[in-house]
Amino acid sequence: MQVGTPQHRELFCRTFIETHVAFEPEELPWPHLEGVDLERLRAFPFWRYARSIEQRAGRMVTAFAKTIDDPLIRSAVALQGEEETRHGRLMAHAIERYGIDAPPLTIADAPISPEEFAIFGFGECTDSFVGFGAIALARKMKILPDALLDVFDGVMFEEARHIVFFINWWRYEETRAGRGSILAQAIKALGYHFRAAMGTITGATDLPPMPALDDPELAAIVADVTPALFLETALAENRRMMAKLDARLLKPQVMPAIGTALLIGIRMLPPRVATSEKTPALTDGAQPVESLHARPAATSGQADAA
Ligand SMILES: [Fe+2]
Ligand SMILES: [Fe+2]
Repeated sequence: MQVGTPQHRELFCRTFIETHVAFEPEELPWPHLEGVDLERLRAFPFWRYARSIEQRAGRMVTAFAKTIDDPLIRSAVALQGEEETRHGRLMAHAIERYGIDAPPLTIADAPISPEEFAIFGFGECTDSFVGFGAIALARKMKILPDALLDVFDGVMFEEARHIVFFINWWRYEETRAGRGSILAQAIKALGYHFRAAMGTITGATDLPPMPALDDPELAAIVADVTPALFLETALAENRRMMAKLDARLLKPQVMPAIGTALLIGIRMLPPRVATSEKTPALTDGAQPVESLHARPAATSGQADAA
């Protein structure tokens, strides 16, 4: 598939539109939760952030779609706006359903331009990579019930579709504007990742600092997640998600490349001497972190067409 051609545009727009799933958040198979599961879910501090960020994404992407001339790209971006808005409603529904204490946050609307959409898109590439790892780790370590994680798996697949659509759109537009050099695009993509990260770090998203985990047992489990375990898990989950989408499409490269490089670097470090004999508090059936860490490592790299 040659990037920047009408066939490329058709493929990335149609793939995105055709993999859209119609549902209402209230109709999803939310499990009944009680006891430690409910306490853990409520202890995660990210709910109010996640809801506000999704709501803002919905407004921004929907508004950006209206500025696009190409009707096919416009309808795909408008659909992404609908999905982001639905993510906001989904978060709001989860907060209400499980009685999570998450007072609304006011987040200013993001500016709307192709440049801002690019910063948003590369930021989503980072957030999705981290989200893939977090959800997969929560499942691996049995931090939350599978039935609940299944619901969030659906959200993560939508994010996977968003970032694959985005990266193809961006490369399509860059190539058509005569900026088709792969090296130049890679350097520019790194710059966008940096700008997106700086926006988050410097509070450009109007977010106050995230509070600590309000659950000592959960905090102990999370504290035992090593960088290598997280990276292995995120890379494996990223490969699984990307494999669900047409192999002819470009796939995000920067985060998997950074993750792989970090993992290789960590593996080259001398092994750490065990510093503690404590065993993380685990629920029934959960595996100790060390045994998870000792699993055969996922292979690095990512098969894709980028
Ligand atoms: Fe979203
Ligand atoms: Fe998204």
